[in-house]
Amino acid sequence: MQTRFSLTQADIPKAWYNLLADFPEPLPPPLHPGTKQPVPPEALTAIFPENLVQQEMTPERWVEIPEEVRQIYAMWRPTPLLRAVRLEKALQTPAHIYYKYEGVSPAGSHKVNTSVPQAYFNKVAGTKRLATETGAGQWGSSLALACKLFGLECNVYMVKVSYQHKPYRRMLMHTWGASVHPSPSDLTDYGRKLLAEDPHCPGSLGIAISEAIEDTVKHPNTKYSLGSVLNHVCLHQTVIGQESIRQMEMAGEEPDMIFGCCGGGSNFAGLVFPFIRQKIVEGKKYRLVGVEPSACPSLTKGELRYDFGDTAETTPLLMMYTLGHKFIPPSIHAGGLRYHGMSPMVSHALKLGLIEAEAYHQTEVFEAATLFAQSEAIVPAPESAHAIAAVVKAAKQAREAGQKKVLLFNLSGHGLLDLSAYETYLTGKLQDA
Ligand SMILES: Cc1ncc(COP(=O)(O)O)c(C=O)c1O
Repeated sequence: MQTRFSLTQADIPKAWYNLLADFPEPLPPPLHPGTKQPVPPEALTAIFPENLVQQEMTPERWVEIPEEVRQIYAMWRPTPLLRAVRLEKALQTPAHIYYKYEGVSPAGSHKVNTSVPQAYFNKVAGTKRLATETGAGQWGSSLALACKLFGLECNVYMVKVSYQHKPYRRMLMHTWGASVHPSPSDLTDYGRKLLAEDPHCPGSLGIAISEAIEDTVKHPNTKYSLGSVLNHVCLHQTVIGQESIRQMEMAGEEPDMIFGCCGGGSNFAGLVFPFIRQKIVEGKKYRLVGVEPSACPSLTKGELRYDFGDTAETTPLLMMYTLGHKFIPPSIHAGGLRYHGMSPMVSHALKLGLIEAEAYHQTEVFEAATLFAQSEAIVPAPESAHAIAAVVKAAKQAREAGQKKVLLFNLSGHGLLDLSAYETYLTGKLQDA
């Protein structure tokens, strides 16, 4: 029985897909916090290069992928699509479970799908140095690698609790030549202010974003780079869904339900946006489920409103599901899902009823992750394991209903550098926040 569906290098998509072109209602624009008017593109060029600002706002349905980027993608893309027959057996479910495996990238997750084009477009625009934030270190290591490949300096603010929990990703960033600082740090005014208020502040993605933006505006030839949330990041990730559509065709099946974990929303967007196009254009009936932690439930418990993308209120206002930009999530092990808001595009898709959302506690997530590791062999990243928890639940429901459902999820990264979180779970010490 065929369980692995592989494309060739020639099949790497030639364009990214832009859902903005197909939304039935336009996406509310980012607003200037002072004037409450739509932010003009020029205002964004203080922190992003012009070519990426254009991508952020383009109404074009397809955006060409530069050949230099496709050549780097070819180091690990197309990624495989696999059928999890051993997991199906362990769950005794009639459901067919497929997963797109992004953990084969050199940095171990989907994040390089956007760090490479972001570094490329910055290089073309003359940027010399990039500043960014990172949670678990997946994004920081992906940007460190991309900067090294294009000869840019890379300066990373890493959420302090993850800096302490995930020393190996910090070392990976160092290996690829980046500078890494625990956030809040004493390198920025904002970090110093927070440390004065609370020297033990665990940090959050919102805080680290504020520090990276402050670093950007205070250093010459520096731009800011974000690993999720924004339109151009979701755009870059659509290589995942485009490949998956072809690979599901190779498998001869159509998914009934498609799942991805949601931090800022980019891997979920990357997998499901091309399927949303099929829903809108071809009337397909997939159910698309974004899965988030119960400890940071922006989609399931947040409010849809304009809010800042960072804690220090330096970004434009984004229309998104948010828990409030001052919310500091509990220190769960899925560091990459500790973000107070959600991508405006993913939020808009939820508002329009194109997708749905579920939240899971981390003990249930690690139970599903361990079952996956013991049946399918791959140790999932704690972030990706949220999608697995939802798939396990759907597969059990299919068993109870006696229905052959086809389930597809994004295994956005491996967890080989997250083993201490597994040890916490396996020794019975993991608690729900
Ligand atoms: C493996 C993995 N999956 C998912 C995420 C969540 O980010 P996003 O929602 O942008 O895909 C992260 C973030 O660090 C991650 O490292």
